Formats: sequence, structure tokens, C-alpha cells
Amino acid sequence: MAAERLRAPRGTFDVLPPDSGRRRWLQALCAEVLERAGFSYVETPVLESTELFARGVGASTDIVRKEMFTFSDKAGRSLTLRPENTAGICRAYIEHGMHKWPQPVRLWYWGPFFRHEAPQAGRYRQFTQVGAETLGSDDPAIDAEAILLLAEILERAGVERLRLRIASLGSPETRQAYAEELRSYLRGREAELAPEVRERLDVNPLRAFDSDHAGTRAVMAAAPRLLDRLAADDVEHFRAVLGLLDAAGLEYEVDTTLVRGLDYYTRTVFEFESAALGAQRGVGGGGRYDRLVAELGGPDTPACGWAAGVERILLAGANGPAKAGPDVVVATATGARDAVARALRLARELRAAGLAAELAEPGRALRRQLRRADRVGARAVAIVGDDLQLKMLDSGAQTPVAGPAEVVRALASGGEGADPGVTA
Ligand code: HAM
Repeated sequence: MAAERLRAPRGTFDVLPPDSGRRRWLQALCAEVLERAGFSYVETPVLESTELFARGVGASTDIVRKEMFTFSDKAGRSLTLRPENTAGICRAYIEHGMHKWPQPVRLWYWGPFFRHEAPQAGRYRQFTQVGAETLGSDDPAIDAEAILLLAEILERAGVERLRLRIASLGSPETRQAYAEELRSYLRGREAELAPEVRERLDVNPLRAFDSDHAGTRAVMAAAPRLLDRLAADDVEHFRAVLGLLDAAGLEYEVDTTLVRGLDYYTRTVFEFESAALGAQRGVGGGGRYDRLVAELGGPDTPACGWAAGVERILLAGANGPAKAGPDVVVATATGARDAVARALRLARELRAAGLAAELAEPGRALRRQLRRADRVGARAVAIVGDDLQLKMLDSGAQTPVAGPAEVVRALASGGEGADPGVTA
């Protein structure tokens, strides 16, 4: 019986060269931007207790209701592959007493997340997020800085046709009063609504703003808006955030219909979209979650942050520099043990001197080792035989050299250095 072909699970993918190189470049860019702004890198488990997300993300959200990969471990505990990281970061903040650290605490992360969604371009069941969270301050400058940092990353990553939408959700109390008002408005026009909107009227009438259904959209166009119902201090906070974005020259649209798929938000919410993407155009979003740490059992800790989809950033145009070939390929003219040992040592010495040096397969004919050097885009080949020769691949010139120092000198005199770094 023929074995069934093994494939990556639906909605997941392998990251292979050359795409993996662009991804590492983007990660280095994120690290540079965020660490310069005082964010420290953190990792939290990919698995968390299911309860964390039920309480943290919200039992009425699509994510918790139908998108989580949940299973029981051998002791019967319910675990879930994390669908997002804000809840996990808050759990870690509480668990490690981070409220005793100097506030605010600024953390950034990069890693895999899991949502059981219908896969399509830009939407996967395992995807990667980069995120930044600032805990311990309710200052509007924290919101503005978070947004500006994400804007900087997206711009430097080459994401094109960006649009930033922003709104304020106020407090859970004003939001609840508003939800009641919206619910009774929607009840009055129930016949015009999509069936799935009608079904969820009791649970979350706000989601009606998300609907693509024509009748629902017409009803929503005339619906009362949360922004007009906010408490005075929330309005003031929102104005301050917008004022700081204005001062920084970042364009945005205040969008009273902005709905985020997570329940923990208070005050500021925002989302970056790229028109370079198809249906899944949200590249990154976030907002303030001033009550979440307390709701999960910690001290009162206002906080704000965002996460962005790495695959979507890469789809929307991030190029990064083309991967450079090695500076030098070390080839052996004979398969003699002694030559192989010398080649291995030379490669190590060249790397110690800062060059990218790749060993050609010593058992192969020299002709094939040279061909490989050409194909991987090497600048030169060091040929270890009775003596040591250096062949420059652009000119074809081949000269004897005394040792690694001379190879380093020859390569330093032409072309770029060996440090790829991060370029804008
Ligand atoms: P989110 O909007 O659910 O927010 O996800 C953030 C980003 O992750 C999205 O804008 C999108 O680019 C990417 N993303 C989400 N689902 C998928 C998927 N199935 N496939 C590919 N990419 C996806 C959050 O997760 C919040 N934790 C953000 C946050 C941080 N709020 C405050 N702090």
C-alpha cells in the first residue's frame, strides 16, 4: 500500500529560502525600531490555559467562540494554542510582579499564533505576529508612540498604500450604555438586518458595523455612534492622542465604525490597512486595554499595544535587501585528507575574520565546486591544493596567496563589507 503523501496541515506553511531571508530581515528591522524605543524582547508559551483567553479575549468574540485550537492535556487541563498575545503578556506581567519594575514596562514579541479560520491569501491557521505592549501608564503619549512605532516599521518595511483608522471605545460602562442604545435602535429595524447580525444582537450589537450585508450597512449608516456618547475624560484622552499624531505629521482617519475582534479594549483603538492586500487588508492593529491586567487578577494597570501580521507585511511589499552570496567559497583541489583539513581550518579562520565563508563539498571535482561557487553568488573561491590560490569570480583572475590574512585583504579592497546589517 502506498503511503499517503505527508503535507503541512491546512492553513500552515513552511518558510523556505529566499522568503526566510526577508523574514529575518523584517525581524531585525522590528528589533531595531522597538529596542531603540526602550522595548525589551519577551517570549511567553505558545500554549496557555484556555481560561486565560476566555477571560482575557472575551467569551463572546469569534476568536474564543470558534477559532481556538483547544485540547486537554494528559491531566485533563484544557490548553489552547495562543490566538493572540496580549492576554499572555498580562498573565506574565502579573505572574512575575512586573508592577514592581519601573513603569511603564515596554515589551515586544515575535512568534507563532493560531486561529482556526478558513484559510485564504493572507489568512492562515498558524501565522506570525510582531507586537509591542506598554503596561503601567495611561498617558496619551503612550498610545501615540505605539502607533508611530508601528507606522515606522510598516513604512520602513516597504508596506504600500497604508491607511490608519482610529477611534475611541471609551470605558466599559459608557460602551455598555451605548450597546443598549444601539441594540434598541437595531431592534426597531430588525427586518432589514442580515440573519447573523440579528442572531448576535443580544451578545454583541457592535459587530453589526462589521457586516458586508447591504441592508445592514444601510441601517448602520444612520445608527448612533459610540464616539458621540463617550465620557468627558475619554474624549479628552482621545483628543490628546490625535493631537500628538497631528504634531508628528501622521495621517489618520477617525472611524467611528472601527470594531476590533477582541473584547479587552478601552479608549484608543486603531488599525493599519494596506490597499496592496486583498480581502485580508488589516496589517496591524491594537489599542488600549486599561482593565485587562486587573480583570486577570493583577493590580490596576493601564496599558496599550498592538500586533501586526508578519505574513501580511511581507505580502504587502516588504522586500529587504537581496540575500548576498558568501564572500568566499573554500574549495579543495584534491580530496586528500590533508587538503580537506586545511580547507576546513581556512574556512573557520576566514569566518573568525568576519567573512562569510562557505565550504564546498571536498569530495567533488574542483570544476563542480567552482560551478557551485558561481551559483551561490560568491565573490571569490579560495582553492586549497599544494598551495593556496584565490580566484576572483568577477574578473576570473587567479593568484597565489599566503594565507587567510591575504584573502581577507584581497576581499576588503573590493566591494562591500561582510556585515549585512539592516538598511532602510
Ligand atoms: P488582531 O487584530 O487580532 O489583534 O491581530 C493583529 C494582526 O495579526 C492583524 O492585523 C493581522 O495582520 C494578523 N492576523 C490576525 N489573524 C491572522 C490570520 N489568521 N492569518 C494571518 N494574519 C493574521 C491582536 O491580536 C491583538 N493582540 C493586538 C493587540 C496588542 N492589541 C493590544 N495589544
